Amino acid sequence: MANQFDVVVIGGGPGGYVAAIRAAQLGFKVACIDAWVRNGKPSLGGTCVNVGCIPSKALLQSSENYHAAGHEFAKHGIGIQGLTIDVAAMQKRKDGIVDQLTAGVQYLFKKNKVTQFHGLGSFSARIEGGWQIKVACHDGGAEEVMATNVIVATGSVPRQLPGATIDNKLVCDNEGALAMAAVPARLGVVGAGVIGLELGSVWKRLGSAVTVLEALPEFLGAADEQIAKEARKIFTRDTGLDIQTGVNITKVAAGKKGVAVDYTDAAGKAQSATFDRLIVAIGRVPTTAGLNAEGVGLALDARGFVAVDGDCRTNLPGVWAVGDVVRGPMLAHKAEEEGAAVAERIAGQHGHVDFNTVPWVIYTSPEIAWVGKTEQALKAEGVAYRAGSFPFSANGRAKALGDQRGLVKFLADAATDRILGVHMIGPLVSELIAEAAVAMEFGAAAEDIARICHAHPSLSEVVHEAAMAVEKRSIHI
Ligand code: FAD
Ligand code: NAI
Repeated sequence: MANQFDVVVIGGGPGGYVAAIRAAQLGFKVACIDAWVRNGKPSLGGTCVNVGCIPSKALLQSSENYHAAGHEFAKHGIGIQGLTIDVAAMQKRKDGIVDQLTAGVQYLFKKNKVTQFHGLGSFSARIEGGWQIKVACHDGGAEEVMATNVIVATGSVPRQLPGATIDNKLVCDNEGALAMAAVPARLGVVGAGVIGLELGSVWKRLGSAVTVLEALPEFLGAADEQIAKEARKIFTRDTGLDIQTGVNITKVAAGKKGVAVDYTDAAGKAQSATFDRLIVAIGRVPTTAGLNAEGVGLALDARGFVAVDGDCRTNLPGVWAVGDVVRGPMLAHKAEEEGAAVAERIAGQHGHVDFNTVPWVIYTSPEIAWVGKTEQALKAEGVAYRAGSFPFSANGRAKALGDQRGLVKFLADAATDRILGVHMIGPLVSELIAEAAVAMEFGAAAEDIARICHAHPSLSEVVHEAAMAVEKRSIHI
């Protein structure tokens, strides 16, 4: 039967499209249903490619280039007169990158013979040997597909701030924050999380005065405390972000003069500020609306995520769920790993995701990255550990690059020396963290890294020296 598939994936983001491709590689007949519309057309890749990881990194690069041209080039003897930023051109470049990558996913579907449906997928009924899935097609039509296995990969959407209406003009979520046509003179950001810091920095580097309003008293609570403290110092001193923690937003009113925000500060004092644009980035919530989860008895957990076990199995036979729509970090690479692992499990293989070694990266300047346990978590768990750290200020390559801010820190088991966590803030640590993830996955000790030859001069020497510092035998400090 034409519309009978071994595997139907609902959602074409990093979780869904990777699951679909891996399942096709394993010999299954696969379909992927995705609802994303961009410029009136289907656009595979989900949040990540359309309005997340990829466009945000494109803008980060543009803003860093602009900032370097204005503030760093002169030190290299490179003179620029009349430096300008053409926001329309910057946005066009970003849109071009998104176009290419979404077309890339489309190409991979074709290459792997994944059938694509464009529209909203929902469970119709349980049938013998599987599930009937309805597709409410984007063109107004409808299709029914039969699936032996279903993988739900419907992702997430921005959490709403009560009282703030997102219009993506004055009050923006990530979509509007990535699409501004001009640099706002005054930018407010609600939430000092990953999006707030990344996109707040973009617009700051392009010229906005940026105020970040964070509800929690601490800054970057998920990161290692030492790194978070260093980050706050750098983002305030160098980037120039005005970061206020412990605030309580009481009112958001968008009008002709901008967006007025009333809040109480950490001391409980009433404050108000007016911004030309406001970005609301206070987390994301799983997308389950439209799936007809209730109709077929697909269980959700207390926070609205599709409930799954450690292997991404839901409560329904043959139904799996991966990515942002299930527990765990909302990261594209975590979604991808789960997608591939589920396809392998359906094939009777032993797909595996190690949640202890999922790296985190925050693409600020300097970048922040970590894998494994933080120092505060080890303390709370009563684990005996040894710490070793090394600063980028003592590294020749960092000096040549012109960015010596930050450090790398290793946390290793006091008895066995096994690496328990690695934390970094500094230039290109998004790349350096991979070594730590590999080491942890192989159960390495800090001494293993300390005894591996690292190229000179390279930023990776900071990782090497930090591992040596666990035994208090760093050389260059
Ligand atoms: P999604 O990417 O959200 O994809 C879900 C897809 O399912 C969407 O296309 C949606 O339209 C579709 N869908 C939903 N319901 C249905 C339905 N019923 N029928 C059919 N289709 C449906 N992560 C990182 O790891 N690194 C980063 O640098 C990073 N940067 C980010 C920057 C921003 C601004 C944002 C917002 C997020 C960022 N993320 C980043 C997070 C990352 O985008 C997500 O973790 C990732 O996209 C999750 O993948 P997913 O496949 O689970 O869901
Ligand atoms: P987040 O969870 O990172 O941060 C949200 C922040 O908003 C938190 O600090 C929270 O305390 C604060 N907050 C919540 N309610 C608030 C309120 N009413 N007033 C003020 N502050 C409030 O979420 P964010 O930044 O929206 O990003 C969503 C997710 O997308 C991230 O958690 C991450 O999983 C993913 N992402 C990943 C990136 C990366 O890997 N580099 C980049 C961007 C997003």
